[in-house]
Formats: sequence, C-alpha cells, structure tokens
Amino acid sequence: MQFGSHPPAHRTLVHISDTHLLAGGARLYDRFAVEDNLRRTLDRVEQAGEGADALVFTGDLTDLGEPDAYLRLRRIVEPVAERLGAPIAWVAGNHDERSEMRRDLLDEEPSQKAIFHAWDLAGLRLIALDSTVPGWHHGEIDDAQLDWLRGKLAEPAPLGTILALHHPPLPSHVPLFDVLELRGQDRLADVIRGTDVRAILAGHLHYAMHGTFAGVPVSVAAATCYTMDVAREPQRVNGMDAGQSFSLVHVYDDTITHTTVPVHGAEPTAAFDLDFYARLAAMTPDERLEAFSRKAPRR
Ligand SMILES: [Fe+2]
Ligand SMILES: [Fe+2]
Repeated sequence: MQFGSHPPAHRTLVHISDTHLLAGGARLYDRFAVEDNLRRTLDRVEQAGEGADALVFTGDLTDLGEPDAYLRLRRIVEPVAERLGAPIAWVAGNHDERSEMRRDLLDEEPSQKAIFHAWDLAGLRLIALDSTVPGWHHGEIDDAQLDWLRGKLAEPAPLGTILALHHPPLPSHVPLFDVLELRGQDRLADVIRGTDVRAILAGHLHYAMHGTFAGVPVSVAAATCYTMDVAREPQRVNGMDAGQSFSLVHVYDDTITHTTVPVHGAEPTAAFDLDFYARLAAMTPDERLEAFSRKAPRR
C-alpha cells in the first residue's frame, strides 16, 4: 500500500540487542527478568516484524557466556525466526564467550576465533563483525577481519551493505561507555569509507543512540534486558527495568530508516482498522489529502 512518494521498503530487518541471558533462566543481578523481557520483545517482533528478511542480534547475547544460556536463547528465538521465515544474524558481544557461542548457539567447533559472517538477503548484503576482545569488555576489530571486510566490500551488492557489530563506532556522553569503546575506529573507517555500506547496526550501550561514522549512519538499538537511565547526570547513569526497545530497519532505494519499537506496549486510544485503509486506497490522491490531511476548523 503506497499513499506517499516512496514505494514500500525493499527489505526489512529486525534489530535486537543485549539480551544478556543467564543459565537456568536466572534474573540478571537478581533483579532483571531478562528471559521474560526477551519473550515479551519477541511477542512484539511477531506483531511488527511480518515480512522481516532477517533478525539481527547485536551482541551480549548472554551475560556470562554460559552454555545453558545459549541453549535457552536459541530455544526461545529460533521458533520465532522460523515462523517469520527469517534467518538470524547472531553477533558476538563483550559478555559473550566465543567458544561457547560457537558450540552451543552456532553448532560449530568451539574455538577462540572471531565470529564474522556475510549474508545475501536477496541483494542486500548483511555483514556481522566480531568486535570483542577475549578477556576484555572494550572492543576492537582485528586485522584479519578488516582484511576480510575490505575484500567483501570490493564488490558492491545490488542493495548495498549493512554492517552489524556490538561496539558502536561512536562517542558516548556516558563516561563508563567511553572506557569500553571500540578501539581502532580509524582503521575501520578507512575500510568502509567510499564503499556501499549504507548503515551500521550496533548495541552495547543499553540505550538507543544515532550518529554517523565515516559518513555512514549508525543506529544503536537499546537493550531488551535493561536499559540505561540517561536522564540522570552522566556520572550517575545506571540500569533500569524500563525503556526496553528494538528497531525495525527499512531499506529503501535512497535511504534506510530505523524505527524504535517499545517492548512494553499499551492499549492504543484508537486504532485505524483495515476498512479505513481500504476506504483511503479507493480514493484519488486529492480525495485522500482532503479526507486525512485537511485540518478540521477550530471550534
Ligand atoms: Fe550489554
Ligand atoms: Fe556490551
């Protein structure tokens, strides 16, 4: 259905981040019901994500890299992905452990090698990078990955490329996150500048943030586990069990949009039903403007 000047999006991705699951379904810090929050997120994804071309999880999939946490994660997410008919792009975060993630989530041989991959979503290239540094919480992308990425990007994809990595290549006004930032950002910028990379998806911050990097828009999805209360002064920013969200990424010819979807919904005050859309669809563009854009006179 197209009423405006843009045809419908070519591709849609669901961008979820920082699930931080624990073995045995435990609460994070004995407080945050991370598994319930993930299930609630996925209920909303099933509401909003019809026609999704991929589910992208930008890291900190588990909190401690426990085998059972990965098994629980896939038991919860895989059936949803199957119902949506969408592949899952799992991205490693600093709270993950490469060996366990490979063995228990990806069905691969356990090893400490970086986890990176490229998908062809019918012309849209999605690339997951591993920005984790084993034993540390800050990020860095190693030379081997940068070389691989350079090779991949040498040939443009029909609908361009979206990169997904855990540590965003952006500053944060929260000092805690500055310590744990992505290092070597210049080297990543050199690889992607002038290529067909159209968007960068990231996580790690536990709050939604947007910026640009090497001329490319960066979208950080907030977490599903808990989020950072950035209304507090920067030195006092801390976690809260509120504000969880994920993003819908719509890929158009000329732009890519990132729509933040709150995990905790509420009853809408009024809903436009399908009949309303059908009536609009039957109108001429001028009639539609008259019916839906014309301001009612003030009484
Ligand atoms: Fe996280
Ligand atoms: Fe993180």
